[in-house]
Amino acid sequence: MTNTPAESRLFEPTSLGALYLPNRLVMAPMTRNRADVDGVPQAVMATYYAQRASAGLIIAEASTPNAIGQTYPNITAIYNQAHVAGWRRVTDTVSAAGGRMFLQLQHGGRVGHPDTSGLTPVAPSPVPLPETIFTPAGHQNAVVPREMTIDEIRTTVADFAAAARYAVDAGFAGVEVHAANGYLLHQFLAQGTNHRTDAYGGSAADRIRFPVEVVQAVADAIGPERVGVRIAPGITVNGIQEGDTEEIYPALIAALTDAGLAYLHVVFADPDLPLFQEIRKTWSGTLIANPVLGWGQPLPADGGRSEGERLLAAGADLISLGRSFLANPDLVERLRIGAPVNQVRDEGLMYSGGETGYTDYPALAPTEHAARTA
Ligand SMILES: Cc1cc2nc3c(=O)[nH]c(=O)nc-3n(C[C@H](O)[C@H](O)[C@H](O)COP(=O)(O)O)c2cc1C
Repeated sequence: MTNTPAESRLFEPTSLGALYLPNRLVMAPMTRNRADVDGVPQAVMATYYAQRASAGLIIAEASTPNAIGQTYPNITAIYNQAHVAGWRRVTDTVSAAGGRMFLQLQHGGRVGHPDTSGLTPVAPSPVPLPETIFTPAGHQNAVVPREMTIDEIRTTVADFAAAARYAVDAGFAGVEVHAANGYLLHQFLAQGTNHRTDAYGGSAADRIRFPVEVVQAVADAIGPERVGVRIAPGITVNGIQEGDTEEIYPALIAALTDAGLAYLHVVFADPDLPLFQEIRKTWSGTLIANPVLGWGQPLPADGGRSEGERLLAAGADLISLGRSFLANPDLVERLRIGAPVNQVRDEGLMYSGGETGYTDYPALAPTEHAARTA
């Protein structure tokens, strides 16, 4: 007898541009702070990602495109040959295990600290993060960021484009531009953090200018079919106050929809929200949706499968999951056969540490797998 659940579109092969994806499950980008102090990925990261190579696509964790964009200690970077070499070890190991990877490009903007990067963070306007931030000396008050000059805006756009080229050299199939979760691009989109009176602030058309310039420069550098964009409409993480969520995202999507990009990736996507439905209608390309599974709550027993299926039914093309992939190297198989998922064991080890809480999450034992599929 089999207790395999009914077939699901989650496990159908599909494609993303020229990439063949064996299923529609995407590992969401997750910062795990296992790089060295210079942002170079360490050998253990190759093991971690290769364990998860059965994902349809892996979007590797946020990597900074320059020194000043560093958010937290030991995050990864992608702006020199040492970073390329460190990442190349990861992508080669994942490819050998049958997987495919994009790399997320993230500039922290005001989410950074001089004790971490050695530099005063920059942002659209001198509005500090209204929370403490983790640094090598522990949690500290945020500092007031320096307002970016027009020259700095131009060099930052160029840094994103260069980072995308480095990512391709490092063996990534493409990059995801991070315009979500309160980091630099989101700070430009949001009224609470963007008080500029030049061409990069004010109306929605002006607040989308910097994110659109970044995406365009990255697309020109490596080809639009290798570029995704992550957004988090309405999310208030990192003290973000968008002010006009219902206006800014339609404007952003209208500016990007004809660019031939690989995908748009929506964080905490709720298929019942009118804005999600509008995004689906107006975005002509591939849509990756990251379901709402209850942040800070235990993972659902099905690892997010039913929420993923609900989003596919609402028009999403691919489903990204974060913590379920973190805690389950064989997540795709567990979801496919309806096996229970491992919970995240120690939240303290999500953002620091070595192998413990990282590469030691177990796959299903062969006997348990056999019992469930017999
Ligand atoms: C440890 C950890 C690190 C994360 N780092 C990133 C990141 O680097 N970039 C990003 O866009 N989101 C990041 N996220 C958010 C996840 O991509 C995802 O949106 C979130 O975990 C919700 O999905 P889930 O409920 O399936 O975990 C992180 C989440 C976790 C748990």
